[in-house]
Parts: sequence; structure tokens; C-alpha cells
Amino acid sequence: MSPVTICVCHHVTEDEIVGWIRRGVTTVEGLGEHCDAGQGCGDCRESLEELIEDFGDESGADGALAVSRAQ
Ligand code: FES
Repeated sequence: MSPVTICVCHHVTEDEIVGWIRRGVTTVEGLGEHCDAGQGCGDCRESLEELIEDFGDESGADGALAVSRAQ
């Protein structure tokens, strides 16, 4: 199966973007800094936001820490 290209302008694939999100990049701007996604025409920005929503809190590490600190 061929990789899904999310940002056509900079040839950034979904796998690469999800990889950055899993490493803690949770903003479109942050993704732009790390892999240039969203730094061209801007058409992919909505898709980037959706990927951040879908994969952004998967690790749960920060959330768990926030909960334990709040108690
Ligand atoms: S498709 Fe990503 S900036 Fe154009």
C-alpha cells in the first residue's frame, strides 16, 4: 500500500505527521516547524488538525500526570 500524502506542497505523508504527533507535536504550527506540513497553500491544515485530534492524546502521559497532580 502506498503512503497517504497529506501535505502535497511538501510531500509529507500521514505516517510522518502521525509520527510527529506521537512525539508530542500538537499544533499545526509545530508540525510545520518539524516537517514543513501546512507551510504552503494551507489546504492540508484541516487534515492536520484532524490528525492532531485523532492521535494527539494517544500517549495519555500528560493527561495522567495532570490528573494525578490534581488529586
Ligand atoms: S498541501 Fe499542505 S500546505 Fe499545501
